[in-house]
Amino acid sequence: MITDLIKSRKSVRKYSDKHISDEDLKTILEAGRLAPSWMNVQSWKLILVKSQENKDLLSELSIGQQHVKNADALIVCVADLNAWEEAGITKFDNPALNPALQGENGLLIRTMEQVIYPVSYMMLTAESLGISSCIIGAIGNEITEINKDLYKKVKDKLGLNDKQILSTIITLGYASEPTPANKTRKDFDEVVSLEKIGNNF
Ligand SMILES: Cc1cc2nc3c(=O)[nH]c(=O)nc-3n(C[C@H](O)[C@H](O)[C@H](O)COP(=O)(O)O)c2cc1C
Repeated sequence: MITDLIKSRKSVRKYSDKHISDEDLKTILEAGRLAPSWMNVQSWKLILVKSQENKDLLSELSIGQQHVKNADALIVCVADLNAWEEAGITKFDNPALNPALQGENGLLIRTMEQVIYPVSYMMLTAESLGISSCIIGAIGNEITEINKDLYKKVKDKLGLNDKQILSTIITLGYASEPTPANKTRKDFDEVVSLEKIGNNF
């Protein structure tokens, strides 16, 4: 059951040496490809990284996080600002339909927002295959504006153009130690309300 996976999944940052098969990697990437998006814009690119050279570069970009370097594979998730025009969505003159009319920040937020769905789909699909993961958001990019020179180098290396933003990295690998079962989350009633914030469901 997907709810059991959601309950048991934890971010994992220590991996064994066991490799993930290409078949499983394809299954995970396919789940990302099939994710929903605003008017089906699919404003993402997914780059599978297996080489140590690129893992090391991406670890440096993510402020030296060791699990980026030590993961068996990474999926670099790219938010693609070009996609709205390519999908014909920029022809709409209503900002509620066309994020290009929501200002530069609005377009950026909407494009980044779409990437959340493939990331979630891939993370849960990996989990269903017994493969652990961690989402990496602490990186240099157009949003954080840190490590600008390194970010430029990474973009060149991964073939990103100036309208493509490295949004998120997913680390993938087999957990090297048992994952603790506890989940630290706000209480149900703190998060969920009926009709109005404060009214419990
Ligand atoms: C958008 C986003 C960015 C994240 N960035 C990082 C990160 O850079 N490094 C890291 O180790 N974990 C990162 N995480 C993982 C969170 O720390 C983790 O999901 C959270 O603490 C809850 O723990 P759990 O995933 O084990 O349930 C990120 C998670 C999300 C959703």
